[in-house]
Amino acid sequence: MSTSPASGTNVPFSVSFCHRLRFTEDVLGVDADVLADLIEASEDRQPRVQFWLDECVANANPDLKQRIHAFCRRHAARFHSCGSPQLVPGGEAIKNDVHILERMLKVMNEADLDRRSYVIVIGGGAVLDAVGFATAIAHRGLRLIRIPTTTLAQADSGVGVKNGVNLFQKKNWMGAFAVPWGVVNDRRLLETLPDRDFRCGFSEAVKVSLLKDPAFFDWILHNAAGIAERGPEAWGAIEKSALWHLDHITRGGDPFEMLEARPLDFGHWSAHKLEAMSAFTLRHGEAVAIGVAVDTIYSSFVHGLPAEEAALVLQALDGLGLLIDHPALANTEELFAGLEEFRQHLGGRLTVTMLERIGKPVDVHEIDRVQMKRAISAVVDRVKRNSPQSERFSASGMGGHAGAACRPSTEPSGSDGL
Ligand SMILES: NC(=O)c1ccc[n+]([C@@H]2O[C@H](COP(=O)([O-])OP(=O)(O)OC[C@H]3O[C@@H](n4cnc5c(N)ncnc54)[C@H](O)[C@@H]3O)[C@@H](O)[C@H]2O)c1
Ligand SMILES: [Zn+2]
Repeated sequence: MSTSPASGTNVPFSVSFCHRLRFTEDVLGVDADVLADLIEASEDRQPRVQFWLDECVANANPDLKQRIHAFCRRHAARFHSCGSPQLVPGGEAIKNDVHILERMLKVMNEADLDRRSYVIVIGGGAVLDAVGFATAIAHRGLRLIRIPTTTLAQADSGVGVKNGVNLFQKKNWMGAFAVPWGVVNDRRLLETLPDRDFRCGFSEAVKVSLLKDPAFFDWILHNAAGIAERGPEAWGAIEKSALWHLDHITRGGDPFEMLEARPLDFGHWSAHKLEAMSAFTLRHGEAVAIGVAVDTIYSSFVHGLPAEEAALVLQALDGLGLLIDHPALANTEELFAGLEEFRQHLGGRLTVTMLERIGKPVDVHEIDRVQMKRAISAVVDRVKRNSPQSERFSASGMGGHAGAACRPSTEPSGSDGL
């Protein structure tokens, strides 16, 4: 008989958070008070505030730094500004170089940021992920205000609670869950976004509508042209998508993904793999559109999704200009490795979300590879039919870009760059 004095207790507990989401027309202009009001005083001490800026956004908006300076001057009584905005490389470059993370932490340390300080980051999803991760680990968490500048980040990731960078050539291998202090989706900041990036974000809106809201899907389907042409419908789609993502995080019961299912990741097992296989020449949103198309067709083959509904999904993605051809799609064997990587990232058994109906997701634990290959071929055939050779994906880009070209660098740029 054991005489060990070992004992123990299990005490479930929860911590409450507040998610602050704002929508503005011009966050550094007429709506500047919305941002200022997010910066709360810390007892009798003025909080410290440091701005971080996506280099491409700064290049496309030459007056942005001045506007930030003006904002800081106007609200000098409310907070202490920690100098010039810090410039960081835009796009995946910032997530692929771990030395940038170290340099960001150094800058935060030198500015004496503490747990009541605010980091305000303006940029695309990649910059938000990387700067967000730095703020999550500095002093075990600074207050992060995200100002996303892409449709994808406004409609999806900016509202989320995930931060991270790539390591060991794997996406988001190093990261942390951290609830942002606030998120401001600003309309004006989207104006300089190139067309290709602008369209991308709506694949996440389609995704969330398919999972949660058939009426929203129907609305996107009928307004796809206006959205793709950057009409006012685009803003409506972003708002609704952001609110659905917020709802999922705050009321879905599993914000930190402790359970086996990751329902918002519909279409993402192949999307993540396609991004990597294309050496990140495919945008996340483009890869998601392809992944959503593949899993929708697979759902119609295997999970009873009516073929007419699957056809509507493809029609919506086409209407948004999102279904594009890429050579990586043809490599189905390599693509299948994405399933195991998806499982590994989450741990436990493979759990992939599919559709029984539009608005009726189902979690499955096995993939029929023969049917999945058929689904992939069906998507490849469709995109080939729809895109003439001249418009197919090429390494030099896809044309149609509005806004200033940006060549993200991984090197310091100017005295306040990283
Ligand atoms: N944390 C999450 O939950 C989550 C979810 C989905 C995706 N992500 C990540 O987000 C990243 C993709 O983010 P994204 O789609 O926002 O693209 P991005 O951040 O890669 O931006 C695309 C390009 O556009 C530039 N840019 C951004 N805003 C601009 C503007 N307004 N004007 C001109 N140029 C601008 C960027 O500098 C970059 O060069 C990926 O790393 C992906 O893994 C994270
Ligand atoms: Zn996504």
